[in-house]
Amino acid sequence: MAKITAGVSTSHVPAIGAAVDNGRTGEPYWQPLFAGFERSKQWIAEEKPDVIILVYNDHASAFSLELIPTFAIGCADEFAPADEGWGPRPVPVVKGHPALAWHIAENLILDEFDMTIVNKMDVDHGLTVPLSLMFGQPEAWPCKVIPLAVNVVQYPPPTGNRCFNLGKAIRRAVESFPEDLKVVVFGTGGMSHQLQGPRAGLINKEFDKAFLDTLVSDPATQAKVPHVDYVREAGSEGIELVMWLVMRGALDDKVNEVYRFYHVPASNTAVGHLILENPR
Ligand code: DHB
Ligand code: FE
Repeated sequence: MAKITAGVSTSHVPAIGAAVDNGRTGEPYWQPLFAGFERSKQWIAEEKPDVIILVYNDHASAFSLELIPTFAIGCADEFAPADEGWGPRPVPVVKGHPALAWHIAENLILDEFDMTIVNKMDVDHGLTVPLSLMFGQPEAWPCKVIPLAVNVVQYPPPTGNRCFNLGKAIRRAVESFPEDLKVVVFGTGGMSHQLQGPRAGLINKEFDKAFLDTLVSDPATQAKVPHVDYVREAGSEGIELVMWLVMRGALDDKVNEVYRFYHVPASNTAVGHLILENPR
């Protein structure tokens, strides 16, 4: 049977991708950030997942404001890096796992989560930057990736509670897949940041740290936090944090916190990162 062994969360700041692609990770501004992911690269090299379910948000790259799925699952064989205005990132094409993705889509929909099924989609920094942080610059990504996109760009995004329950449903779906696969769920985006308006540049370390604590130790309480609290305390783009609740919902109530990293700033954003394991 397929099994979810762990969850990873990381921010997805596009400038991190540009630093990797342009050989700038050793510069004084970037070095402390990338140093914080050395342990994570080691962990994932040892964990060797067969498949990552990567919960992320598209930033009007694959979906424009003409079409806004709340939850979309990528069922294709592969997903090309999106051109976000400077050409596609020079990173490997993302290889999907259509059999598992279709199984998850079917089970989620029968479980009353009305997923949008995506058979062709380019993936932007929301998906590729977390892969770069965890795997560096390989010739090919070392495992299959199922993209699961959440709308957090156009109001209204799904509630944290809906995201948490989606994570639980993903777990049920994965654990009913007959093949022996080791699956890790990524929840990405965040942490506090606001890119526009009078509060542009907002960062709230206290909110971020409390979010990390509560997400790990009492996710059901974190799931009840309404949108307005995220937007007020963590900024308009801080709402990306609801995606971490999908990852957390896919894990046990009690998890082992393997690693935590928090760094301010990267570009305009507070960077947070967790590795959580299901107790064996
Ligand atoms: C930045 C952060 C994001 O989450 C994003 O999608 C775009 C830009 C930033 O901090 O620059
Ligand atoms: Fe973003």
